[in-house]
Amino acid sequence: MQQADYIKEIAKYGLENDQEKLLFTLNELIEHSKQSRKVNFALQLQSILKDAIRQQETKGILRHGSSKHSIREEDREVADFILEKLTSDYRLSHLVCSSEVRENLDYFVQEHRSLDILQKYELPISNKVLFYGPSGCGKTLAAYVLAGELEKMMIVINLGAIVSSKLGETSKNLAKIFRRAATEDCIIFMDEFDTLGKVRDYSQDHGEMKRVVNTILQLFDYLPQSSIVIAATNQQDMIDDALLRRFDLSVQLDLPTEAQIKELIDKTLKDSSFTFDNPNKAKRIMKDSIGLSYYSIQKTLLTAIKRSLLAQKPPFVKAQQRIQTEIWANLIAQERHHLL
Ligand SMILES: Nc1ncnc2c1ncn2[C@@H]1O[C@H](COP(=O)(O)OP(=O)(O)OP(=O)(O)O)[C@@H](O)[C@H]1O
Ligand SMILES: [Mg+2]
Repeated sequence: MQQADYIKEIAKYGLENDQEKLLFTLNELIEHSKQSRKVNFALQLQSILKDAIRQQETKGILRHGSSKHSIREEDREVADFILEKLTSDYRLSHLVCSSEVRENLDYFVQEHRSLDILQKYELPISNKVLFYGPSGCGKTLAAYVLAGELEKMMIVINLGAIVSSKLGETSKNLAKIFRRAATEDCIIFMDEFDTLGKVRDYSQDHGEMKRVVNTILQLFDYLPQSSIVIAATNQQDMIDDALLRRFDLSVQLDLPTEAQIKELIDKTLKDSSFTFDNPNKAKRIMKDSIGLSYYSIQKTLLTAIKRSLLAQKPPFVKAQQRIQTEIWANLIAQERHHLL
C-alpha cells in the first residue's frame, strides 16, 4: 500500500468511529513510513498516537470516577515545562567543528546505536552530554544533530519556566518529565542550562532552588542507561560544579578557525547557484571574519546574497547569481564593530 492508501483508510475508519481498525492502520502507516525512510514522520505519528492513548486512559479513569484525577493535572503541569517536542533532520554533516568534536559525537551516536552489545558486556553507556562555548557556535544545532542521527524525539525543557514557576512543585514536575521521556524513549534537552545557576545566585528562595539542583543531580544519577540528556550553555561557569561533574561527555564548541569559516561558507552555498563575484576578496573577508561566530558569519552571508539579488536588474538568470563581496565585506565589518 502507498501512503495515500493508508490515509484514505484512516479517514474512513475515523469517520466510522472504528477505533480498532483505525489504530491498526495507523500502526501500519508508522511501520510503512519507517521503512520508506520517513523516520521523522513516523516518530511524529507515534507521538500523536501515544498522546492520544494517554489522554484516553485519563478520560477513562475520570469517567469511572477514579481518584486518579491527578493524571490529567500532571499532564497540564508538565506541559508548562516543555518548550517543544520535536524531531530533527539534522545530521553530523551539517555541523562544522573540529575533528575531535566530530569524533566524540560520532562515538556517542555509535554507542547508542549499539546499546545491546555494550549492555551485554555490562559496560556503562554515556548518556549525559554538555555542549558549552560562545553564542552562535552550534550548541543548539549539535543537540538537533544528535536527535537527528539517533532518530529520536526530543523534548526541549523550558528551564526558564521551571525556575520562575512557583517552586514548590518544580522538583516533582521535573521528575515527571524525566520519567515520561524514559518511557517514550525521547531525548531530554535542557538548553540555556545556566538558567539554573543564575537563579541559585539571585533568587531569594535559595533553599528551593537548591532543591531543584539536587533533584536534577538525582535524576541524572538514576537516569536509565538508554535515556539521553543533553544540556547546553554559554556560561559554563554559572553551573554548579556538582552538576558539571555528572556529564559523561562535555563538548566545547568554539568560534570558527579560518578553515572552519571556509567550510561553513562552502556548506551554506552548496546546492545553490550563488558564487562570489570576486573569489579572492571573499577569501580575504573569511580571514577578516575570524573572531565572529558561525551564526554571525552565516547570517551576514545570507543578507549579502539577498541584497546582491535585490541590487540586480531583471531578468534574473538563475545560472549566474553573483554575491557582491563588497556588500558582504561591509556587513562583516559591522558585525566586528558590534563586538568592540
Ligand atoms: N558549528 C556550526 N556549524 C554549522 N552551522 C552553525 C554552527 N554554529 C552555528 N551555526 C549556524 O548558526 C545557527 C545558530 O547556532 P546555534 O543556535 O546552534 O548556536 P548556539 O551555540 O546554541 O548559540 P546560543 O548560545 O546563543 O544559544 C545554527 O542554526 C546554524 O545555522
Ligand atoms: Mg543555543
